[in-house]
Amino acid sequence: MIVVRTVNELREHHQKARGMATGFVPTMGYLHKGHQALIKQASTECDFVVTSIFVNPLQFGEGEDYSTYPRNEQRDIELANEAGADLLFIPNVNEMYKEPMSSLITVKKGADSLCGKSRPGHFDGVLTVVMKLFWMVMPNKAYFGIKDAQQVALLETMVKDYHIPVDIIRVPTVREEDGLAKSSRNVNLTQEERLKASHIHGALNKAVKHARSFTNAPAEVVSECVREINELTSGEVDYVEVRSFPSLEKIQSLDDMKNTREVIIACAVRFSKARLIDNLIFTTN
Ligand code: PAJ
Repeated sequence: MIVVRTVNELREHHQKARGMATGFVPTMGYLHKGHQALIKQASTECDFVVTSIFVNPLQFGEGEDYSTYPRNEQRDIELANEAGADLLFIPNVNEMYKEPMSSLITVKKGADSLCGKSRPGHFDGVLTVVMKLFWMVMPNKAYFGIKDAQQVALLETMVKDYHIPVDIIRVPTVREEDGLAKSSRNVNLTQEERLKASHIHGALNKAVKHARSFTNAPAEVVSECVREINELTSGEVDYVEVRSFPSLEKIQSLDDMKNTREVIIACAVRFSKARLIDNLIFTTN
């Protein structure tokens, strides 16, 4: 695996892979088995795999965890290599944003709910950096985790909006043994918070069963899930929402639920030094 830090070096090395099907896995580093699953899938489906590590300041709001976001470059290099990346791109902020951006991607639809509502401007930052990375890497396929479901949905729309010739590949969520979704931010949980955090997945599982039984309105499924997470974990629910996937329309009634093919129950939970997200997606028939 080759490690490069500038766009010029990236292009130079990638030139050698011209004509090969390129898979791309953008990340913010502090890699874990979730990221590795993306890289592994890319390496089975593509001839050449590019991974990037860049903690993108543009997608962090004021007071969010940009400065405390976990970083460990040496370990990341080993894990990316082990998973099968061919080229690892690790730019610094100056390389990615030499000048302040004079234009940005703005999300017009789909960012007024879930994480977009709690983190204004977050998805503008995500789409802008992914668009830049797409131009740098020019991949055929790009791999994203379903764990960040709203991110995948908005990126799929961006690709359609701009006719970008990249296939977005959705990869299922990789979990710890107790069900907690793997996340770089899990290290910022205290020991007690970590122990109880598995109840997030438990509560989502129950909510899915509840929803699929079609006995209660979506609002009741949500309130029961919120109650359970607040009671059983040391965190505080930011949101629990039931929506269609990937269109992210609100599901208001039992009839809405029955008429929606894919339903997502998604949540965000705030802990003392981390905000975690998770979701489950299910089909109604
Ligand atoms: P990051 O949080 O590092 O995640 C990089 C990719 O790994 C994303 O596609 C994310 O959905 C996926 N991922 C994270 N945890 C996962 C898990 N437990 N199972 C499967 N996939 C998982 O998402 C970002 O970075 C950034 O927003 C980025 C797209 C790189 C733009 O800056």
